Amino acid sequence: MIIIIPRAKTMYLHDLKVNRFNEPTGIDLSLPVFSFCVDGEGAGRLSAVRITVSEREDMKNPVYDSGERSDISPIGFVPEIKFEGGKKYFWRAEVFNDNGESARAVSFFEGGRKSAEWDVPFITTAEDNRRAAAFYRAFALSERDFSGARLYITGLGLYEAYINGKKVGDEYFTPFYDDYRYSLQYQTYDVSAFLREGENEITVLLGNGWHGGRYPAGKNGDGMFGDGFRLSAELVLSGEKADGVAVLTDEKWRELESPIIFSEIYDGEIYDAGKELFDDDGKVAEKAKNTAKPVKISSAPSAEIIPRISPAVCERENFFPALIKTPGGETVLDFGQEITGWVEFVCDLKAGERIKLSYGEALQNGCFYRDNLRTAKAEFIYISDGKRRVVRPHFTFYGFRYVKAEGLSDIELKLQNFTAKAIYSEMPRRGFIHTSDGTLDKFIENTLWGQKGNFLDIPSDCPQRDERFGWTGDAQIFSETALYHADCAAFFAKYLYDMREEQRRYAGACPFIVPDGFSAYEEKRAGEKKKDEIAENVNRVSAAWGDAAVVIPWNLYRFTGDVYSLGKNYENMRLWTDFLFSADENVGGGKRLWNFGFQFGDWLALDADKRKDRDGRRGATDESYIASAYYYNAAKTTAKAARVLGKTEDAIKYEKLAEEILSAIKSEYATSDGGLTVETQTSYALAAIFGFIDGKKAGRELVRLVKENGGKLSTGFVGTAFLLDALTKTGNAETAYTLMLGEDYPGWLYEVKCGATTVWERWNSLRENGEICDTEMNSLNHYAYGAAAAWIYKTVCGINVKEGYEGFEKAEIRPVPDKRLGSVFGEYRSGFGVYSCGYEQTDSDVRFEITVPYLGEAEFFVPEGCSALDNRGKKRTERTLFFKGGKHIVNCIKNPRAG
Ligand code: BGC
Repeated sequence: MIIIIPRAKTMYLHDLKVNRFNEPTGIDLSLPVFSFCVDGEGAGRLSAVRITVSEREDMKNPVYDSGERSDISPIGFVPEIKFEGGKKYFWRAEVFNDNGESARAVSFFEGGRKSAEWDVPFITTAEDNRRAAAFYRAFALSERDFSGARLYITGLGLYEAYINGKKVGDEYFTPFYDDYRYSLQYQTYDVSAFLREGENEITVLLGNGWHGGRYPAGKNGDGMFGDGFRLSAELVLSGEKADGVAVLTDEKWRELESPIIFSEIYDGEIYDAGKELFDDDGKVAEKAKNTAKPVKISSAPSAEIIPRISPAVCERENFFPALIKTPGGETVLDFGQEITGWVEFVCDLKAGERIKLSYGEALQNGCFYRDNLRTAKAEFIYISDGKRRVVRPHFTFYGFRYVKAEGLSDIELKLQNFTAKAIYSEMPRRGFIHTSDGTLDKFIENTLWGQKGNFLDIPSDCPQRDERFGWTGDAQIFSETALYHADCAAFFAKYLYDMREEQRRYAGACPFIVPDGFSAYEEKRAGEKKKDEIAENVNRVSAAWGDAAVVIPWNLYRFTGDVYSLGKNYENMRLWTDFLFSADENVGGGKRLWNFGFQFGDWLALDADKRKDRDGRRGATDESYIASAYYYNAAKTTAKAARVLGKTEDAIKYEKLAEEILSAIKSEYATSDGGLTVETQTSYALAAIFGFIDGKKAGRELVRLVKENGGKLSTGFVGTAFLLDALTKTGNAETAYTLMLGEDYPGWLYEVKCGATTVWERWNSLRENGEICDTEMNSLNHYAYGAAAAWIYKTVCGINVKEGYEGFEKAEIRPVPDKRLGSVFGEYRSGFGVYSCGYEQTDSDVRFEITVPYLGEAEFFVPEGCSALDNRGKKRTERTLFFKGGKHIVNCIKNPRAG
């Protein structure tokens, strides 16, 4: 007798997170969402999950024990308990499958301060100081009699804290970028290892950052939110003998002269090492102490001071330069990749000598160039004190590939001394694509770099010129791609928090940029809050921009399946849709169209009608049509969210509104022959996606318009985001491939062919000969057109989340192969595990390999024009195949084309 022993199906857990943070310290615990990923071999099914929380690492005496429950989802669970601030908790997830196996893993988390209210005093400089500040305090610890130490700290603008000369934490740009009128985050650091018995010193550097200086619009140095520096910090010890606040910001602190003598987000930094604060042993130098001045206790900012919500912003990747001697005799370092961050270098110049680095994105005629950065100087100047030091800026960042170095002779310039550091918010990679087309792969990589370069605490339009704002339109357009590429749930949660704060103050209106520096700046100048009358608000929003308030929450939900976060972000959605409705009623006369107020239209579309729009930026598509389409989408998406959240009354209300808008759009824009009164690629793309006219007709018109335009696209920010999906949805994927793979202008691969390493703002940011097309509004790192990467995940690789099973509990694998791509591999690491779809094809067949994660399920849609074969090589009749966890091979034969 042969006994078959089944191979143990090992089940294991990873990615234990709270609020999407891995092992966090100092987070907001008002709604702690626990999540974890269950993996294993083959397919599994959970019968129960148990979550335990304890103050002890050995998990004894738990403060919370859910017991074994079948209703706990790995992608989001909030324990029914209030956790205390200022305490480290360990938590364990334990899962049981229906084979009687179990697996467990432990992680930890810690909230912010014990007291929910921030009652720590703020200090500021005694005299007006707009450049940079340094504060210092010495204190003694008699015995090392504490088991833990936490530093709770915040400041305005940005701070870096040092204890005994060592930087606390590996993050930069703290306390991060919120609308400082409303919110200011504080951070919590475990500083136990920094302290010693005897004398200790804490030193904090402050710079303008996004708060002061001339960001965003103040040409004369009057900042968006305010000026001056404020610091608030407390050091709390815990242990048997010492317990409580050891140090807090008070009059005992001193202001020191900062070695940072100039600092601005746009213009860069000047650092005078002659004023260096620390000795070689990390102590504050006597020379620096001699500059000490008293500090002033300052009022607390009006903002609510909240535990951190931003994911960490750290140096994440290094790049090393090649040397270019330009025809103009300049010394330029080429880092080979456009990144956002700075250059760190080892400096051993003589005292008083200086090095100047200037940052740029492109060369022109072989020479260094930065006119497209407009007024942003983007420089770093370092004045040496004669000591060999590792140098970097502090409160500024640059979007760059090229750096011009001045002040070093050829002998002094050692390439190995220069490293470019890419700095961005934490967002673990989730999606991967490889195809047989290297140029396409490079484009996908460029879209990822667009994301890395523009996800520095806020989703920005660009990282280099005098802008760098959280433009809502760009962010929503790119959000789907961003979520395919990486886990940016925590990143977007923070952005949506800020957005909600803005919306609450302006009757639901979601502004052009978040944080809304524009209104902050205007209000600061006017000395009063702007009126939030509807008539005024309709001019401070735009379709596709304000719609970030519904698009991002919904995309976030699709990718994470986290209903708790959807519950929070539902407020953004509801506020926005209600705002549009009341504007429609009060300004638009209740026509269920959005045909009033300001619009950006199909921004930067190539079909711009220059007669209507002086600068030719708005595209030819009727702006009210675009806006009404978005109004429809807002009502419909808000209704869907309401259904998920069980808010039936809301759902009915928004469904009804959506229907009314749909019929208003149809009667206003549909023609008697089934077409549209607005004849552009963008208009038909929107119609196909939202169902304004018959899909087949929309597809035909779209293909016709592409043909009439020489086989090229003519869309802008709005249309481009829908074009490929619209063609695919209407059965015209071949045309979508043609557009995607085209290497001539205008098209996605044109810029790749021109050597781009990120995605450009304009289809022709650079001409074929490398010449820049325009300096006024022309960035080489603008991710909006990179949104096409989502189409590659969805259509080329076929990886889609199934509606109703958000978070990838189930996936729809719907690849649409095209003969121009012989092989394709795509992978997405969801909260439910890894889905992948790869295929190789010949003229006659396609072989698919599909991976479904342990707890996942997938429906595989046999591509049009193909038939799946069974084990004996016979054609199967089913068009949809159902897969559980594991690897699945599907051999398909291509059917000869009919006709
Ligand atoms: C930005 C865009 C933004 C636009 C508003 C530009 O200056 O860079 O990306 O969305 O303004 O239309």
